[in-house]
This record gives sequence, C-alpha cells and structure tokens, in this order.
Amino acid sequence: MLSKIYKLTLYLNEYIADFIKVIKFNSYSPFEDRQKRLFYRIIINAHAIEKGLSLDNPRPLFGQAKMTDLMQLTKGYNPSSYGFFPLEMTLGALKDYHALHAAKNIEADFLHQVIDWQNQLDAMSVEHATGGSKQVLGDNNNPDLSHTEFLTSRFSCRAYLPELVSTELVAKIVKAAQSAPSQCNRQSTRIHCFQNKQQIVNLLTLQGGSSGFVDSVANLFVITSEQTAWGGAGQRSQSYVDGALFSMALMYACQSFGIATCPLNLAVTNKKEKAIQKAGNIHERERLIMMMAFGYPITENLKAASSPRLPTEDILTLH
Ligand SMILES: Cc1cc2nc3c(=O)[nH]c(=O)nc-3n(C[C@H](O)[C@H](O)[C@H](O)COP(=O)(O)O)c2cc1C
Repeated sequence: MLSKIYKLTLYLNEYIADFIKVIKFNSYSPFEDRQKRLFYRIIINAHAIEKGLSLDNPRPLFGQAKMTDLMQLTKGYNPSSYGFFPLEMTLGALKDYHALHAAKNIEADFLHQVIDWQNQLDAMSVEHATGGSKQVLGDNNNPDLSHTEFLTSRFSCRAYLPELVSTELVAKIVKAAQSAPSQCNRQSTRIHCFQNKQQIVNLLTLQGGSSGFVDSVANLFVITSEQTAWGGAGQRSQSYVDGALFSMALMYACQSFGIATCPLNLAVTNKKEKAIQKAGNIHERERLIMMMAFGYPITENLKAASSPRLPTEDILTLH
C-alpha cells in the first residue's frame, strides 16, 4: 500500500516539474525570448489565413481581425533573429488573399491595407512568398507515386464531398492503421467513427478549429487512448505519443485508399474534454488525442493551405 502511495506522489513531482517548464518556455512566457515567441505566433496567424484560403468558398473579407493581428506581429519581428520564414509565409498569405478578392472583383478599404502591408514586407527584403494556398489534385493514392512522393503528397483537406465512407472501408482503413507501433505493444488507442451529421456538428462545434468547413465534413474520427494501459509517473504523457503515432498511421491509411483527411486539434481543458466525451458517448477513461475529418475531397478546384516547411537544416541537429 505504502509503495502505491509513494508511486502516486511521484506524479505530483512530475506535474510540478512540467508546470515549471511550461511557465518558463510557453509562448506567453516573459522568461522566453520575445523574437522566438513572435516567430511562432506569426506562423500560427499566417496559417489561419491560409486555412481560410483553402476552403471551397471562403467568406469575402474573412479573417480581418487575424490579419490585423498578423500585421502588428510582423512589425515587431526582426528577421535577423530567427530568419525570414514567418515573413515569407505572411507575404504568400497576403498575396493570395488579395488575388482571391481581386478575382471576385471585391473592393474594400481593408484590401488597400493588405497591399500597403505587402509593400512594407517587400521593403523589408522579404523575397519569397511561401504561404497562401496551393492547388492539389486529391488523387494522392495514385499507385505511380514513389514511397516518398506518397508521403509528401498528403495534405490537410478542408473541402469534402457529402459521400459517406462505407463502414467496410472504414474497417479496412483502421486495420491498416493498426500497423502503428505502440509502447510495449499495449495498443491503448481507440477510434470512434461518426457519420451522423448532427453528432458531427455537435462534436466539431465543441472542437472549434473547423468552423469554415464543418458543413462539408460527413465523416469524422475521434481518436482516444485508454488510460488504464498506462501507469507510473514516467508514462504520464505516453498515451499522447502512441495516440499521435496511430493518428499519423490513420492519415496515411486513409490516403492509401484515396480518402483525404484533416487532423483537428483537441488542445482542450478537462471541462471541454468531458463535454466532447459526453457528445460522442465516449468513456471518461479514454483521454482525447485528436479528431480527424475524413472523406472524399471535392473534385474541382481543390485547394490546400500552402503550409510551407522550415528549411531542414533549421530543424535538424547533426550531433
Ligand atoms: C494535432 C493537429 C491538430 C490540428 N488541428 C487543426 C484544426 O483544428 N483545424 C484545421 O483546420 N487544421 C488542423 N490541423 C492541420 C494543420 O494545420 C496542418 O497539418 C499543417 O498546416 C500542415 O499542413 P498539411 O497537413 O496540409 O501538410 C492540425 C494538425 C495537427 C497535427
């Protein structure tokens, strides 16, 4: 009994140490370098614009508040600190935003601000426009693709046809994704598949990150992990590692059957997690990993957010 109590107190140590690290390094932390925080915040805001650009029918002048935030953030960012990447991504998003409205003959004062801002970025020697949206084919299960091309042709799809994926195909996809590794092969990941429109709307409304394309989602996975599989303070976050690996395998399994996906974050509070569990009839022992929209992509003019990647040398340290 005493050893069990001791083991439980170890969780407290770990959560306190986790808490201290969060306080020191999180994106609002006054202890963390401001330029590094801006680097990430600009990328995140520019991506919000890209996501709007990737919708089937974006709302005219969408995301003005996000765009204005983005402008303020870029003003404070010094590219000599962490490089041009966030500014290049912003420039691409601005150019595509402007081009989208020009193509629809939409006029607004705000669009002039967008051009001014584009010019300011040009004046800051931002040479490449990497962000924005890109045309995608949606036939990414093409058997002629090499293994590497198969991997690099996956994209987050935010425009689907209304068709349901058959339950037979869903079962095949999940079986293929079960090839994912798991710690000690404990296989704690669980997949909940929803195809009832009202239930999907309820779940996505709670999720909150798919507001521009909720109506187009006809098939939804919720990926969870049974906590009973995990014990010991060292394992306190491991269900998320296994759950994320399974989710990645699930995305590629979908792709291998010609089904597009969009991972949807469940970065939620315990209260929100409980509400989602209730809406999805999911047991509370299953912690939520993520949601995933999936289905057949629209066939005409399918676009995806550019989501440019950092230069590999910036993320690879050869020790
Ligand atoms: C854990 C996770 C959560 C995500 N959440 C959302 C989301 O809530 N809404 C959304 O539209 N995209 C979401 N995405 C998709 C990312 O925006 C996308 O993966 C990223 O920009 C890279 O683009 P790509 O998937 O097209 O390669 C999420 C991705 C991950 C991995």
